[in-house]
Amino acid sequence: MLSAVESASKIQVGRCCITSQKVDGIDQPSKRTQRRYDRLAFAYDIMEAPLERFRFAVWRQRLRNRITGPTALEVGVGTGKNFPYYPSGVQIVGVDLSPRMLMRARRKASNRDLSVELREMDVQNLDFPDHSFDTVFATFVFCSVPDPVDGLRELRRVCRPSGRLLLLEHMRPENFVLGLFFDALNPIVVRMMGANINRRTMDNIRLAGWNVRIEENLSSDIVQWIEAVP
Ligand SMILES: C[S@@+](CC[C@H](N)C(=O)[O-])C[C@H]1O[C@@H](n2cnc3c(N)ncnc32)[C@H](O)[C@@H]1O
Repeated sequence: MLSAVESASKIQVGRCCITSQKVDGIDQPSKRTQRRYDRLAFAYDIMEAPLERFRFAVWRQRLRNRITGPTALEVGVGTGKNFPYYPSGVQIVGVDLSPRMLMRARRKASNRDLSVELREMDVQNLDFPDHSFDTVFATFVFCSVPDPVDGLRELRRVCRPSGRLLLLEHMRPENFVLGLFFDALNPIVVRMMGANINRRTMDNIRLAGWNVRIEENLSSDIVQWIEAVP
């Protein structure tokens, strides 16, 4: 029997579903993800620096033109790597599961004198009313959210009907052999980095009810820029 602060939630693992218990609003898989990113936070920017410099930074620039307001929500804001690409004049809220990643984001925001509201929150259980934001966006996040479909559904709930979802995500390649290779490597990468490299993110976006408008391959079909409407 579950207590008042506990509830059951369905977690998608590959193609099957398991039930996990929620305690104090955050379930065990989310706790695990939170702990992983808390552990990684101190080294996160250094570890990603080469990729950031040669690949990610160019892709992130798209955000500047595509985030429209008056209000926007970034989920999995991490250490605030997208801050340089926030457009001016849009009121942005950033949320993340990991207090230590957020601590770094807060420091970056204050160094840049950037006005952004940062809150600790699980994308699978957002504390915002329906239709709160004109743009909802994330970069390299749905590889680590325990139940990505749940998280994407929550984003659709808080997005205005006229709003837009922007995603920069890596996912499982379509190529049969490469796909199997990513499946085999996945448990190691999850343990080391907290990221699943074999998520079928395009399927998950559609399962969550989004209508995909733009799906652009940036690095073969492994990294994609996605725009969708509710
Ligand atoms: C790979 S990092 C990406 C960070 C940042 N978006 C970037 O582009 O560098 C994934 C981030 O998503 C956060 N995250 C994972 N699951 C989450 C969830 N359920 N709710 C909110 N944030 C989550 C992690 O704490 C981490 O900061």
